[in-house]
Amino acid sequence: MNVIVFASRKGGSGKSTLAAHLAAQVHKASRPCLLVDADPQGSLTLWHKLRGTNEPPIRTANRSVTEIINSAKRDGFEWVFIDTPPTLSAVVDDAIRNATMVVVPARPGVFDVNAVQDTIQICRSARRPYAVVVNGAPAMRDGSESPIVTIAREALAKFRAPVWSGQITNRADLLLALAHGEGAREYDSRGRAASEIGRLWAAIERSVKAIRGAASSGGTMHKHAA
Ligand SMILES: Nc1ncnc2c1ncn2[C@@H]1O[C@H](COP(=O)(O)OP(=O)(O)OP(=O)(O)O)[C@@H](O)[C@H]1O
Ligand SMILES: [Mg+2]
Repeated sequence: MNVIVFASRKGGSGKSTLAAHLAAQVHKASRPCLLVDADPQGSLTLWHKLRGTNEPPIRTANRSVTEIINSAKRDGFEWVFIDTPPTLSAVVDDAIRNATMVVVPARPGVFDVNAVQDTIQICRSARRPYAVVVNGAPAMRDGSESPIVTIAREALAKFRAPVWSGQITNRADLLLALAHGEGAREYDSRGRAASEIGRLWAAIERSVKAIRGAASSGGTMHKHAA
């Protein structure tokens, strides 16, 4: 079983958004994914209600996720996605300690990038693999990323933080899909939002395979305690 934790102490960076879109991308009867909403704000729970299908299944966690993870293992889930609050709290520590990999979304602003350091530090102390994902970025033009994204990548490189080479662009479709309780692919399977979420999922899967020792780590986006 693989546990993906979405964590950043910066509010509004995209933890719940990425967790919802990726869960909708991944969950199938043959590949069950359990959602864990560890944030009292309940964003993921709201999306799940809007979805109205009860799939993927969801649990809420207050202080610890360990029990939920243990029972998910017994129930045969392949994936567990945990959405966490924008705090430095016991439940965030617990989720990160249990993570196969931590996804740290960051908007490309200077304050946003600076704020990922606390979360990275927790991943390093817990010796859990992690990667920063640039989210809410300006659209690429003629195949080139916005200067603001380049500056963000340079700043992240100074912290020696592993960063996904792609980006999740700021797109109304991502918001519209959530408002319908859908993921990007369900909302518009041929849209650009769906293609970026698909690419991010492929990168996460590649990293998880390498972490599990089932593939080489060349070109993967994560690092152990980097
Ligand atoms: N790539 C994007 N394009 C458009 N809107 C986005 C994108 N990413 C996030 N948003 C929107 O920005 C807002 C904040 O995102 P989200 O709630 O996912 O952040 P969060 O990190 O979970 O916040 P919190 O720390 O408060 O839990 C939401 O309205 C969300 O739908
Ligand atoms: Mg959230």
